[in-house]
Amino acid sequence: MPLDIIVGTQWGDEGKGRVVDLLATNMDYVARYSGGDNAGHTVTIGKQTFKLHLIPSGMAYPHTVGIIGNGVVINPDILIKEMDSLRRAGIRITPERLYISYAAHLITPAHLALDKAQEQARGSGKIGTTLRGIGPAYTEKIARRGLRVELMLSPQSFTQKVLAHVESINHTIVTLYDGEPLDGQKIAHDFMNYADELRPYIRDTAGLLHEKLKQGKYILAEGAQGTLLDVDHGTYPFVTSSNPTAPGALIGLGLGVGNANKVIGVTKAFQSRVGEGPFPTELQGEEAARLRGSGENPWDEFGTTTGRPRRVGWLDMVLLRYAVRINGITELAVTKLDILSGLPKVKICTAYIKDTLTYSDLPYGPANLDSFIPVYEELPGWNKDIRLVKEWGDLPAQAQDYIRRVEQLAGTPVHLVSVGPEREQVILL
Ligand code: IMP
Repeated sequence: MPLDIIVGTQWGDEGKGRVVDLLATNMDYVARYSGGDNAGHTVTIGKQTFKLHLIPSGMAYPHTVGIIGNGVVINPDILIKEMDSLRRAGIRITPERLYISYAAHLITPAHLALDKAQEQARGSGKIGTTLRGIGPAYTEKIARRGLRVELMLSPQSFTQKVLAHVESINHTIVTLYDGEPLDGQKIAHDFMNYADELRPYIRDTAGLLHEKLKQGKYILAEGAQGTLLDVDHGTYPFVTSSNPTAPGALIGLGLGVGNANKVIGVTKAFQSRVGEGPFPTELQGEEAARLRGSGENPWDEFGTTTGRPRRVGWLDMVLLRYAVRINGITELAVTKLDILSGLPKVKICTAYIKDTLTYSDLPYGPANLDSFIPVYEELPGWNKDIRLVKEWGDLPAQAQDYIRRVEQLAGTPVHLVSVGPEREQVILL
C-alpha cells in the first residue's frame, strides 16, 4: 500500500509544503487532491523560494511526476503562469511530468466575481475567503453544472459551455448582487487559449494512479488547507468548500480506501488562522506579534496567497486530538519549533472550560468554539537557537519535553520536527 497522505491538522499553513518536499525524495508521484489556488505552499531550495498554489510542491524534484487530481478546482490562468515560472527556475514541466485529471473542475473569472460579490453581501458575517473563486466553483460542481477539465478536449462545444456558464453567473451577479456582467466572449476566447495550452496534460489520473499502485510505485497525496477548514469536519461555516482531510485524498484522487498506508499530520508548534471564525487559543498584541514575525521573511505568518497577517495562538491539543481522529493520523510532523525559542514559557491548551464543565474533547465538533475557554499547561521555554540542530539529542531538554508532551497529549508519535525553512533544517525522530 504505497500511498501516503499528508494532511494539515489546523487551519492550513502548517508547513505541509516542506514536509511534502522532504518526503517526496522517496516518491514516484506527488498528487494534489483538493482545493485550488487558495492554497499556498512555500518551498525553499538553496537560495530559491517557490510559492506554489496549484502544482504539487513535491515537483521541485526532477524524479517526481505531479498529479492534479479530480478533487481539485483549477484556475487555468494561474496554473499556466505557475508552470511558466517553474520552467524559468529550471524545473521541467512537461506533459510527461505533470498530469491533470479530466474530472477536475475549472475556475473562471465568473467564479471569482461571484466569490467577491458573495463576500461583500455577507457584510460582518463574511467568511474571509481568499477570493479565488473556490466556493462558487465547488458549488457549481455539486450542483452538477460545473466546467470539467475534460471539456477542453472538445474545443467547439467548450466555447458554448463557457459562454453559457458566464451567462448564468452574470444573471446571478446582476439580479442578486447588483453587479456588472462579465464579458463572456472574452472569457471564452481566453479559455480556448488555455485549453490549447493544457490539452496535452489532461489524463485519466485516477486510472493511472491505480495502475502505478499495482506496479508498487510510491504516491504521496499532498493535502492543501487543513482539517479545521474541512467543509464537513471544520469550523463551519468558516471553512473552505472541499474536504482537505485524509479521506478527501481517496475521493479527490479516485483511489480505494484499502490503498492508504501512512497518514502524516502536519502541525505547527503553535496555531495560526487566516480569515474569520473561532480560534480559542488566539493571542493578541505583543505575544501575537512575537509568534507572527515582522513579515520580512517568507516564513513569517502572513498569507502566502493573500498576504494577510495570520491570527496566531498557542498550540491547541483538543483540536489536534480531533484532527488525529478525523484523519486517522498515524504520525505527526511538528513544524516551526524554532519560532518558540527564546520564550520564557510555552503554553499548550489541553482542555476547554464551558459553563464550569471541563472538556478534553469537542462535545459538538469544532463549529461552536467561541464560548469555550482554553485550559493551559505551561512548560519551561528554551533559549538556545535551535535552527542548526540536526539531531534530536542536540535539542535543549525543554524543547524535547515540549515535543514529548505533544506526542503524549495527541496519542500519536512525532516523526519529524522542523527548525527552519530550509530543506535540511529538519530533525527526524
Ligand atoms: P476559500 O477557500 O477561499 O473559500 O476560503 C475559506 C476559508 O479558508 C477562509 O478563512 C480562508 O482564509 C481559508 N483558507 C483557504 N485556503 C487556505 C489555505 O491554503 N491556508 C489557510 N487558510 C485557507
